[in-house]
Amino acid sequence: NDLYAVIGHPVSHSKSPRIHSLFAEQTGESVEYTAIQAPMEDFEGTVRDFFERGGKGLNVTVPFKEQAWALADKRTERAEKAGAANTLFQDKDGALVADNTDGCGLVRDLVNNHGVDLAGKRILVLGAGGAVRGVLGPLLAEHPSELVVANRTLARAETLASLFAPEAVDTRLAACGFDQPDSPFDVIINGTSASLKGDLPPLSPSVIGDGTVVYDMMYSLQTTTFNQWALEHGAVQVFDGLGMLVEQAAESFRVWRGVCPGTAAVIETLRTD
Ligand code: ATR
Repeated sequence: NDLYAVIGHPVSHSKSPRIHSLFAEQTGESVEYTAIQAPMEDFEGTVRDFFERGGKGLNVTVPFKEQAWALADKRTERAEKAGAANTLFQDKDGALVADNTDGCGLVRDLVNNHGVDLAGKRILVLGAGGAVRGVLGPLLAEHPSELVVANRTLARAETLASLFAPEAVDTRLAACGFDQPDSPFDVIINGTSASLKGDLPPLSPSVIGDGTVVYDMMYSLQTTTFNQWALEHGAVQVFDGLGMLVEQAAESFRVWRGVCPGTAAVIETLRTD
């Protein structure tokens, strides 16, 4: 079997081994996938050791995505722009290549799994950290009419808006604080880590209108704090990030193996695990 792993700290909670085992079973690919906890001070050594032992590919999770990006000899275009990598592999010449499949995962979950078309829509993205930077390119590639990045720290939202301005070909791209948006959006995506602490970004409920769809990039067994708030203020549909997690994994699997696993049954299985 070819060896793959997710590397993080901590990593024991990761669903990636389960997801990739289900993909391997489904596709018949000879894939063995484990979890590796790298020491905080030696991510690089752990990665090099993995590939020296013949490992074929790594997924990278918190807190090493930026280090993975910096370590790579080559980066895909989408990883370059994301400033972080969740997927590593070696090319034919043994160069370490960094990719980022997170944004692709989010867009596929929204568009393919939930039927949310983004073209011509007004999108509000909350947060301006690494998670949001990773998804802005793929979101803009769907040609929304408007994309507003709102963040607690305005300067970080402005930095992202400048960075992605070249990608916003037919999108009005703007940055603001949480107090500014006050009209309904078609799609609201929560990319802050606020819900991890049960916090809510202090947004006006008027961002939710009759047809607003809400997506929280976090997932949990219960409805997330943000999605709960959105439902209370009239959102028509709320989704959590489980589908995104499975879709980014599927895209990594495709990058490594050249085979696209189906995701619907895997999402269903994880939901009921
Ligand atoms: P990640 O990789 O998850 O994006 P990050 O780069 O630390 O992690 O970014 C966390 C994001 O969540 C930021 O947008 C942060 O806002 P600031 O830029 O103002 O720090 C946001 N965030 C974290 N805790 C929050 C809270 N309690 N309320 C609102 N936003 C919060």
